[in-house]
Amino acid sequence: MVERISSFPCPIEVFSVPVPPAPIVPASAPLMDGFGRRVDYARFSVTDRCDFRCVYCMSERMTFLPRARILTLEELAALGRAFVELGVRKIRITGGEPLVRCNVLWLFQELGRLRERGLAELVLTTNGSQLERLAADLKAAGVARLNISLDSLKPERFRRITRTGELDGVLRGIRAAQAAGFQRLKLNAVILKHRNHDEVVDLVRFAIDQGLDISFIEEMPLGEIGDHDRAEMYYSSDAIRADLAKVFSLTRTTESTGGPSRYYRIPGIDSRIGFISPHSHNFCGDCNRVRVSAEGRLLLCLGQEHSVDLRHVLRAHPGDRERLKQAIIAAMAIKPLGHDFRLGGQPVILRHMNHTGG
Ligand code: GTP
Ligand code: 5AD
Ligand code: SF4
Repeated sequence: MVERISSFPCPIEVFSVPVPPAPIVPASAPLMDGFGRRVDYARFSVTDRCDFRCVYCMSERMTFLPRARILTLEELAALGRAFVELGVRKIRITGGEPLVRCNVLWLFQELGRLRERGLAELVLTTNGSQLERLAADLKAAGVARLNISLDSLKPERFRRITRTGELDGVLRGIRAAQAAGFQRLKLNAVILKHRNHDEVVDLVRFAIDQGLDISFIEEMPLGEIGDHDRAEMYYSSDAIRADLAKVFSLTRTTESTGGPSRYYRIPGIDSRIGFISPHSHNFCGDCNRVRVSAEGRLLLCLGQEHSVDLRHVLRAHPGDRERLKQAIIAAMAIKPLGHDFRLGGQPVILRHMNHTGG
């Protein structure tokens, strides 16, 4: 049985007295790691909870973090200010499913204001289930782009992959995002052999018809999911591209969204077809990002455990942004060169994907 999220939808709004933002000083130097890579992209997971239980992300029975252990929205806003002062130009909000967090719109509005202070892009990764309700407000808050997970266009299959999801609600969410004026919406499809690998052409056709971009993702072995053997269900980006090449003429482009997707285009078509290939085309050499987990751990790599406890810094020294910035700067020294995913055997990284939102 899948446990429902009891706190959603959320009736109460509890915020501390608003603290006027301290003056923001320009970054003196960009964040650089020990390998000379510039970090200008931060991903904040705002909750580990989700209304779906995708088979590649979670196990059927999950224990979620108690509220006191997750960062408050004010702490997340403070983190946003600190990262932007340190030269971060792109912030992506992730989950779990970020839009099931109570009052999360307030955070988008706060972070949206950082666009006046050097933030180039505030973006969101979502499963789409709440977009029908929230797309217009997100746009108004200054969210520039949305990435929406969509692994199947078949309602029954969609339900089996997400365990609880309803395809129609996500499709309505996509339409709401289009109606709200979002440009360059991107679909994310995790492709698993024998589960949905036979749908890649249909997913591309759907993306083209709807004027969307799409990225195909190789499954990453994070956390024990208890659903399938990840090695057996591995379906490589090369295999997907070969399937697509039977129908479409794909041309490699050098376009980048600052993420790990390698993009292809079909002549005369606006949609971009991306491939995120942590196994077959490692992209760590160009890594420009760090993540903050829902608990406030600054994770220096998705596929490693190197981290710094920013929640401790935030709670031990409330309001001390300089100390927070120093902790972030110091953390760069332990950013590892890259991930080391192995498909066979037990996962090396025990944390599930919902703690970091990818
Ligand atoms: P844009 O390029 O900005 O559109 O976003 P994105 O594709 O990087 O972000 P999104 O949140 O949509 O993530 C898509 C997939 O890329 C997810 O499966 C993420 O886990 C994966 N991903 C993003 N960054 C990294 C990374 O640094 N390492 C690994 N291994 N996977 C990543
Ligand atoms: N491997 C690859 N991608 C994953 N996602 C979730 N879990 C995994 C996994 N184990 C994807 C989701 C979403 C994005 C945040 O990460 O489909 O699009
Ligand atoms: Fe939820 Fe996203 Fe994980 Fe699916 S992949 S269970 S939508 S957090």
